[in-house]
Amino acid sequence: MVVRRISERKRDELARKKQEAALGGGVRRIEAQHKRGKLTARERIDLLLDDGTFEEIDPFVTHRSTEFGLGDQKFLGDAVVTGHGRINGRLAFLFSQDFTVLGGSLSEVVAQKICKVMDLAMKSGAPMIGLVDSGGARIQEGVDSLAGYSAIFYRNTRASGVIPQISVILGPAAGGATYSPALTDFIFMVKEIGQMYITGPDVIRAVTGENVTHEELGGAVSHTSKSGVAHFAMDSEAECFEQVRRLLSFLPQNNMEDPPRLASLDPPDRADPALADVIPDNPNQPYNMLDVISMVVDDGDFLQVHEQFAKNIVVGYGRMAGRPVGVVAQQPDYMAGVLDINASVKAARFVRFCDAFNIPLVTFIDVPGFMPGTSQEFGGIIRHGAKLIFAYAEATVPKISVLTRKAYGGAYIVMSSKNLGGDVNLAWPSGQVAVMGAEGAVNIVHRAEIAASDRPDERRAELIADYENRLMNPYVAASRGMLDDVIDPPETRRKINRALDMLENKRDSLPPKKHGNIPL
Ligand code: HXC
Repeated sequence: MVVRRISERKRDELARKKQEAALGGGVRRIEAQHKRGKLTARERIDLLLDDGTFEEIDPFVTHRSTEFGLGDQKFLGDAVVTGHGRINGRLAFLFSQDFTVLGGSLSEVVAQKICKVMDLAMKSGAPMIGLVDSGGARIQEGVDSLAGYSAIFYRNTRASGVIPQISVILGPAAGGATYSPALTDFIFMVKEIGQMYITGPDVIRAVTGENVTHEELGGAVSHTSKSGVAHFAMDSEAECFEQVRRLLSFLPQNNMEDPPRLASLDPPDRADPALADVIPDNPNQPYNMLDVISMVVDDGDFLQVHEQFAKNIVVGYGRMAGRPVGVVAQQPDYMAGVLDINASVKAARFVRFCDAFNIPLVTFIDVPGFMPGTSQEFGGIIRHGAKLIFAYAEATVPKISVLTRKAYGGAYIVMSSKNLGGDVNLAWPSGQVAVMGAEGAVNIVHRAEIAASDRPDERRAELIADYENRLMNPYVAASRGMLDDVIDPPETRRKINRALDMLENKRDSLPPKKHGNIPL
């Protein structure tokens, strides 16, 4: 029998080609990439994935364009590296745009490579991560490039709510290139190197006369604090990839799975006496809700999402007895925890993500109401506040809430209230459920009586005290079953854990429909 071996020459050719693909746009452009303070596409993959787990797909793909001299500029793999690997041992798919090849621009075949891994991620039910470093549409390819974007956006949208999608902005993302990240669930940006904008500083200067730098306009700080487009601003690429890995540790692989429960050494019934001292005597004095959250969740470990945006509401992930939960909480330390447009949208998006991926919601409430003012009304607080109502009412995951202090008016209704579908609604003895604060209420209800009184200020004070005694407590709501129990603050963790145990197999579903019509 003749034993046929692949000849040495052919194996050498393969090795040579792989080496060529690994060099992307070549040594000179790799050096230029490093000089810009950026890692290469492959260095990024190595940092993001578990060691030695990357399996590349399509390293031999090249474009077929000949226009504008492109025929002489072919690079193996073109301007993106794609494939799959493991993060904390779990499967993940990714693409990493290669700026050393024609500025990471999106050609027809780059889009095809990206679509191929997106399709595999969907079929395999695993997260999709995009590392973005691109000058946008490959200008020389014209409409073929634009069509490539359409194909990616189509898949981003189809994958939404099925697999977690994460974008990491590590270079330019201009024009249409911003919209794939915008369609994904979480956007990470690295300061000074990642920049997103629809039109750049030059166009802005020409059209509006404004002068703005690339970083001011589209950098990580702007997008995590002003526009809310991005969720995480990180100082370095290494730190950024660590944070992506941490975020994924809270998430299921897809919408058919439960989030991964870990063993926890933190006793589920641990009582924290310090919780009894959190609420100040003066109801208008702030306190830090992050203290409450860290005393309640496992080991005080809490990952804040959207930390710098709409700081009056806190959203993020923690674990309770090892199971991931999504936490939504007012922050009395910032604008008294009021609900405004940005806070409503931030929380609504978070609630919807958690619901799509079977992550129970734990809500801590201390909200004086919706933010008054023409800018809020003209900005559409009605429409945006409605998003949060919609999100909570639509969510079928376990919904547990703890009222720590104020729940006034419409804001009471919005925040996971019982009749909005809350499963377990708890309150501390400091809780106050009312249509509005005492002073405002008395000024309206007793206006005539106060005006007729020969000692109006004293009468007003008496009426306020009476209103507070009668209504500013949790017992009126509890007497109607709108709060399930009033609890001693130190037992908060135990109560939440028991509620989560009780709701472990919760089954709830929406009436059959194509989809709802959330007020966008
Ligand atoms: C082809 C591109 C390119 C592009 C950059 N390059 N962008 N090639 N198509 N879109 C090439 C450059 O010619 C250069 O090639 C190399 O990439 C590196 O670019 P530099 O300009 O040297 O780098 P830098 O100074 O860091 O500037 C990066 C940049 C700039 C800010 C991204 O290149 C730039 O403004 N590019 C154009 C951005 C743009 O307008 N894109 C189209 C957006 S419209 P050499 O050979 O010299 O190394 C769009 C529509 C999509 O995307 C709509 C979808 C719905």
